[in-house]
Amino acid sequence: MEQLFTPYKMGDIEISNRVIMAPMTRSRANKGDTADTLTAEYYRQRASAGLIVTEGSQISVQGRGYLFTPGIYNEEQVKGWELTTRAVHEKGGKIVLQLWHVGRISHPTLQENHGVTVSSVAVKAENSTCYALDENGKPGPVPVVTPRALSIEEIGSVVQDYVHAAKNAIRAGFDGVEIHAANGYLLEQFINGGLNIREDQYGGQSHENRIRLALEVTDAVSQAIGAGKTGIRLAPFGRLFDMHAFEGEEDTWLMLAEQLSARNLAFVHLSDQQTLGAQAIPEGFGTKFRNAYKGTLIIAGGFDKQSAQACLAKGDADLIGFGRPYISNPDLVERMKNDWPLTEPDRATFYGGTEYGYTDYPFYSK
Ligand SMILES: Cc1cc2nc3c(=O)[nH]c(=O)nc-3n(C[C@H](O)[C@H](O)[C@H](O)COP(=O)(O)O)c2cc1C
Repeated sequence: MEQLFTPYKMGDIEISNRVIMAPMTRSRANKGDTADTLTAEYYRQRASAGLIVTEGSQISVQGRGYLFTPGIYNEEQVKGWELTTRAVHEKGGKIVLQLWHVGRISHPTLQENHGVTVSSVAVKAENSTCYALDENGKPGPVPVVTPRALSIEEIGSVVQDYVHAAKNAIRAGFDGVEIHAANGYLLEQFINGGLNIREDQYGGQSHENRIRLALEVTDAVSQAIGAGKTGIRLAPFGRLFDMHAFEGEEDTWLMLAEQLSARNLAFVHLSDQQTLGAQAIPEGFGTKFRNAYKGTLIIAGGFDKQSAQACLAKGDADLIGFGRPYISNPDLVERMKNDWPLTEPDRATFYGGTEYGYTDYPFYSK
């Protein structure tokens, strides 16, 4: 059988094939930022993926950067997500929740008491928008503001927010969690040496200092729910949301890879940003990462069946993440297995709205 469709065990999670549904924000959460029956139907349709990684789900009000994205910090949100985990498990699927703190990619109107947004340092992300109410009270893209730097005490509280969220995810029935340390959000705002010039143990020239928070979160979450249920997503050389190149960039990512290798996690998931409009992970870096990190590796970004098979055959990754193809092909596994044609997704309905462009993409029929 083709390798892409063979079973695999990652930490505590056994999956029936190596096709991973990559996390995708769809901005259709209910009042109170709760996942609901529509969310459950969307993921149920896609349950033949080996593993579903949900859309980013905020760990706290502070971690919220967009209207209509689901949270995982209160009871109502746990109950909402239970509908999804039950639906996916009933169909024999596996699903982990992506834990999200956006850091500076937010706006005071999304924060508790309209408070200032937070990051590693008090530097605004240029040319970046979040999704909030505009001046006319209408939801839309809104430029982000200058955040304030988190204090050391506050960093401790953020770690606890991740732990609380991870425990909630397990209570909601998820098979595990993926810590979102990619794509320009809070944890990457600490990792990136161009941005994070803090002068304490969480920043500056030292690679150790800048990767400290990501590792502290990983360790605290692993301790709370088990390393075998904990994964993390990274975007090496990430450029989204005003992230820039910095000296020693490769060394930072490889040090993080080595550190994660020692932790026996369920998986590390790399996000290649080329199909998101940023630069690709540089040629040759994947092999270096693979040598530094010995555990289960997922790679996502621009794959089709053929390139996925080639990547597995070369040993560059263990599992392949598919993003946009999963928006419009709920039965992506069956379509790839049988070489059936794929449906193209409609960008206009990626974010927000109703079931249109969400749960109404058909399963293949001849
Ligand atoms: C609509 C949309 C929403 C996304 N939301 C998230 C997200 O919540 N968390 C995340 O880590 N990546 C997110 N991504 C990135 C995808 O997980 C994936 O890495 C990217 O789409 C590249 O894979 P692809 O070329 O197969 O689409 C999103 C991508 C799209 C298209």
